[in-house]
Amino acid sequence: MSDPWSDNPLELDGSRVINRRIYVEPAVFEAERAAIFAKTWQWVAHESEMPAAGDYITATIAGRSVVVARDKSGAIHAFYNTCTHRGACLTERHKGNCGGKFVCMYHGWSFDPSGKLIGVAWADAYGADFNRRRYDIPKVRVETFAGNVFVALDETTLPLLDFLGEAADYLEQFTGRHEALGRVRWVNEGNWKLWHENFRDNYHPEHTHRVVGAGYRGVDVTGTNLQLEPAHSLLKFPPQRDVRQVERMFKTVGDYEIDLKETLYRRPPFEVDMSHQMQILAVFPNLDMQNFLDGAGGNFLQVLRPVAVDRTIVELVAFGVAGEPEAARTWRLKREMDLQTSAGKISGDDVEAVRRCTTGFSAVGEVAWSTIDRGQQTGKSGGKHDEYSMRIFYDAYKRYMGEALSA
Ligand code: FES
Ligand SMILES: [Fe+2]
Repeated sequence: MSDPWSDNPLELDGSRVINRRIYVEPAVFEAERAAIFAKTWQWVAHESEMPAAGDYITATIAGRSVVVARDKSGAIHAFYNTCTHRGACLTERHKGNCGGKFVCMYHGWSFDPSGKLIGVAWADAYGADFNRRRYDIPKVRVETFAGNVFVALDETTLPLLDFLGEAADYLEQFTGRHEALGRVRWVNEGNWKLWHENFRDNYHPEHTHRVVGAGYRGVDVTGTNLQLEPAHSLLKFPPQRDVRQVERMFKTVGDYEIDLKETLYRRPPFEVDMSHQMQILAVFPNLDMQNFLDGAGGNFLQVLRPVAVDRTIVELVAFGVAGEPEAARTWRLKREMDLQTSAGKISGDDVEAVRRCTTGFSAVGEVAWSTIDRGQQTGKSGGKHDEYSMRIFYDAYKRYMGEALSA
């Protein structure tokens, strides 16, 4: 199929532009649910968030509410969050423990943590031929890797490890010996792709985040922007904290927000190896992870649950190393809550950037194209400020959307 974006007024190759209609058209949003969210592995939980028998977590995937639950043998199951009697969802909670079974609040049918029907109120009235097995809840595919629980709605989606491809090693590094410390969620005013792009883009931090810009002024900012096959990406850069830089950051931060200085530079209650890199991993289509200084400067993920073409639920999960003392857990949790949530002293700027793009797209009829042309060397990687990661996302996006994008 020829690239549907090759004919553009910027006269760029189709792989280096974005048609802004994909951020605003409800029909595109609907097509994405079917072509992307129902066809890819979707991150739902870290196993450490559901350690006990009966623990469960819910998520809305491609518009369907799904339950992921652990049974008493330790196995993890996934099934649709709907009672097979007359449809009520079995739980409205994001997270909980079913106490051995899910009991439907409507007429009392009950299901075990694998979605199997185990109880029917006054069952005699259904007659001797009543076949309970017809009313087990259909299963959803579930696989785990490095503690991460993923589900896939479609039988034809590649096995999880093939889907993760070159991203798998990083996932192992970021979450394989870790535990989730806490979760928070908020609603962004903007299309889901805008938030995901923000993690694939290291062109913006020095401009969007005042403290980052101040710290890097006069510094030769190094690092790479890397494509990971088949659809993922990694940004990798050294801490770049020479003495002048730290002094300048302190001055900038001290000028306007003493609390930020405290949060960013208070020493963690454990050893930090400054030779470790800052890494930002993006897994197609809606999972992003930051791992700074091997987790000592932040270790968290964000997963996107699109609600409408211009509304997105962001869920943030903070990680620590399994078995760490309470002081370390508290330090990490406080740091992510302070910096990376919707009102976070860093992510708050990104929330604003996404909202401004959404406002700007009101002129999509007149200004219809964005450029992702940064980085001219051939191959799959370039400098920290380049847009290789953006291009591999949109290459995959067009592959998944196929004809739906041309309609
Ligand atoms: S809808 Fe669940 S028991 Fe009737
Ligand atoms: Fe940012």
